Amino acid sequence: MPLVLEEHRHYLTDSVRLSAFRRAIAEVVRLGDIVLDLGSGTGILGLLACQAGARRVYAVDHSGMIEVARAIGHTNGFHDRMVFIKALSTQVTLPEHVDVVVADQIGGFGIDAGIVEYFCDARTRFLKPGGVMIPARLELSVAPVETPQLWECLTSWERTPAGLKFEPVRTLAANTCYPASYRPEHVLGEPIVLTVLDPSLGFPALQQYEGRSVVHRSGTVHGIGGWFSAQLSPGVTMSNAPLAKEPISRRQVFFPIEQPVSVETDDWVQVRMTIEPTTLLITWIVEIWGPAPVRKARFVHSAFRGLLLSREDLQRMQPQFVPRLSSWGQARRTILELCDGHRSVAVIEQELRYRHPHLFSSPQQVAAFVAQVIAQGVE
Ligand SMILES: C[S@@+](CC[C@H](N)C(=O)[O-])C[C@H]1O[C@@H](n2cnc3c(N)ncnc32)[C@H](O)[C@@H]1O
Repeated sequence: MPLVLEEHRHYLTDSVRLSAFRRAIAEVVRLGDIVLDLGSGTGILGLLACQAGARRVYAVDHSGMIEVARAIGHTNGFHDRMVFIKALSTQVTLPEHVDVVVADQIGGFGIDAGIVEYFCDARTRFLKPGGVMIPARLELSVAPVETPQLWECLTSWERTPAGLKFEPVRTLAANTCYPASYRPEHVLGEPIVLTVLDPSLGFPALQQYEGRSVVHRSGTVHGIGGWFSAQLSPGVTMSNAPLAKEPISRRQVFFPIEQPVSVETDDWVQVRMTIEPTTLLITWIVEIWGPAPVRKARFVHSAFRGLLLSREDLQRMQPQFVPRLSSWGQARRTILELCDGHRSVAVIEQELRYRHPHLFSSPQQVAAFVAQVIAQGVE
């Protein structure tokens, strides 16, 4: 069941987030500005830009939400200033450069929803010299957390449902990051600001970020919690940190460790993270130190080891692999060749069925396949 509307309703009901964007947009957008609302969803950030005096707003969303945004733009009387474009921002061209790019493509750990890729592209292709990106800065923080519930994500694989063993999955599970909903009491030590970055400038080449957190109460470390703080404008920041005074309602991230470790007040936890700049896959190395100092434990985890790659996928990634079109690939090629600016969808469906009679069992299946292919590569 599609829950897209529910997701966007949730964004609109987060009053802390909305207030932060409203204040930041009012601070940054000047009368007559051109604004790009990147990943517009309901169009809320574009509407706030109109209220702040924007002359024109390009609302871009690659999902069906663009139609919802269009309807909301009309209902609020801003349709004459808003241009709605259904496309991925990296594939869109705009007829003019913009003064402001605004987006809330910020993941639970800041970078994990694509903001770096989309902002780099938007700054390069759309932003006027001296233009402003919202957010302009992201701060990524981590801290040791006590969260027995989330640690179940690992231990569940040690059980034997129906008398069967699932142990091989545990290594994958221990190298996977999970969404989390921390309360302040889950945080065992002082948060560490790992890095501060301008997402529109991209990630520096493979670099290690590290810091040390002093434990402020005894407990059990199950892993490392990660969250962000985003500077939306010179005067406005928003954060999903569990210890923030007024956090927005967005989940954080859990990086598990191999085994839980008991800690006492004033022990410390050393965290080293590497973020691979193109894939954004994260490696986390965690050391837990007691007094003296004595190292209690050391764990090395990497999202690379948590990837669900089949041996067929791995084989295809080898540079010497020689790819050949499958019968579905050939059907795809047929459709794209038939999209010549003359043939209608009905004619393409008919021709496809004629040329690939063994692939489809019904006209509905043909129609669904054609719709899927032309949604991706056709104007
Ligand atoms: C997190 S929601 C935010 C929606 C809205 N801006 C808000 O603040 O409520 C992200 C939206 O951006 C869209 N989206 C994500 N990345 C995009 C991209 N690169 N280009 C176009 N749309 C994108 C998604 O379909 C989704 O509707």
